[in-house]
Amino acid sequence: MKDVHVVILAAGKGTRMKSVLPKVLHRVASVPMIEYVLEAAAALVPRTTTVVVGHMADTVKSALGKNPAISYVVQEPQLGTAHALLTAAPTLERAHGTLLLLSGDVPLLRSETLRALIDTHDAAGAAATVMTALVTNPHGYGRIVRVGEQIARIVEEKDATPAEKQIAEINSGIYAFALEGLFDAVRGVASANAQREYYLPDLVAIYRRSGRAVKTTTVANADEIRGVNSRAELAEVSRLVRQAKNEELMAAGVTLEDPPTTYIDRGVQVGPDTIIRPGVHLEGETVIGSRCEIHSGVRIVNSHVGDGATIYNHCVITDTSIGRNAAVGPFAHLRGAAVVGEGAKVGNFVEMKKTVLGAGSKSMHLAYLGDAVIGEQVNIGAGTITCNYDGVSKQTTTIEDGAFIGSDTQLIAPVTVGKGAYVGTGTTVRENVPPGALAVSAGKQRNIEGWVEVKKGRRKKEEGKS
Ligand code: UD1
Ligand code: CA
Repeated sequence: MKDVHVVILAAGKGTRMKSVLPKVLHRVASVPMIEYVLEAAAALVPRTTTVVVGHMADTVKSALGKNPAISYVVQEPQLGTAHALLTAAPTLERAHGTLLLLSGDVPLLRSETLRALIDTHDAAGAAATVMTALVTNPHGYGRIVRVGEQIARIVEEKDATPAEKQIAEINSGIYAFALEGLFDAVRGVASANAQREYYLPDLVAIYRRSGRAVKTTTVANADEIRGVNSRAELAEVSRLVRQAKNEELMAAGVTLEDPPTTYIDRGVQVGPDTIIRPGVHLEGETVIGSRCEIHSGVRIVNSHVGDGATIYNHCVITDTSIGRNAAVGPFAHLRGAAVVGEGAKVGNFVEMKKTVLGAGSKSMHLAYLGDAVIGEQVNIGAGTITCNYDGVSKQTTTIEDGAFIGSDTQLIAPVTVGKGAYVGTGTTVRENVPPGALAVSAGKQRNIEGWVEVKKGRRKKEEGKS
């Protein structure tokens, strides 16, 4: 097998996106679209991978992070796709084998399809092989002009005659090239066209004139080569990615009640017999166990949900771990490394931040639990607040196993409520509560007999005066 060298074009501004963000960094199912291209390329184990950057080059580079397998070349200014490929000449001019040219804005290509392109190209011994597709709406793409069976040239939308615009076979912008003589030929591309750009597709006509073999291979599923040039195309491509993920999960035994409104990132795992109701977002590296139920309007990001857990409607859960058979929500907000123990219950309008709620413990209504370590079988009453911030730094509240925190309690951290202790309703806990003790701080209640009648009489008198 010949060496494969990958070049990915990603220097363009993406004018049609109307964005300050470079096009290739726009996200498809939470992942910058160029990441999909890099991933498909990496699966081919290429000898080298070169990304051509230009518009906001540093932003693109830093978004992709440090990856020793990728080298960058800078195209400045951006004068077209042929000009972009030429910027890789210094590094690849002396290389041998096959150059696979990919576009940073064509994210759905599978590595199997790319492998097939390279195999077809190598088997034919062609100078260039163009991946084409037959589409119902070719608008915007370069069209494949054939003479007889043979590809003669590629004409861009803006340069096409009305007759050429009728051609349904389009250029995917993905090619395999024999490296021998490639860069010399690219240097021969001119810019005498509607956009005054150096078009890489012009190489086809150049090769044909010089008698070098140009082949085509038509992709079976035209969706794979969809390019993203506008927000509408971004939405379309995102929908296809989501749809594929949803189908994969359903095939693995997950119930999605309404797949079109279920947004699950590629990196998410979901166990069998889990039921996901409409309008759920599962993002990042989230892992959901089996037999879970995730109700409508829930958003879960980079979190772990154990088997048999139920997340009721409208919870927002990030960086959190939820134990087996636990129940959360409706309307709970868990974040910042929150941990909900096995069988624990978190109810409506409870916020947990960097807090561990032990197995079997409950916080059912209206609470803020921040920087707290809460043991097992603890009951947190409605309106409990851990006052974790003293104005300078965050302090820890510790509530030991079996403790009972009455409603409307403020726990002024750092403070500890001992094992099995009780805190009376309305208590402001400023000092540690020993195990088994009862803490109360509210004043003694005083009833003023007949007060309401007196008050009403006074008001009537005042009204009579005015
Ligand atoms: C290109 C092809 C078209 C094909 C389509 C498939 C050309 C002239 N046209 O059109 O035949 O049907 O892709 O999606 O190649 N880029 C650079 N530097 C530049 C210009 C572009 O790196 O100077 C990069 C862009 O960032 C993008 C890719 O090349 O990732 C394609 O450029 P784009 O402007 O999107 O080309 P299309 O008009 O889509
Ligand atoms: Ca494009």
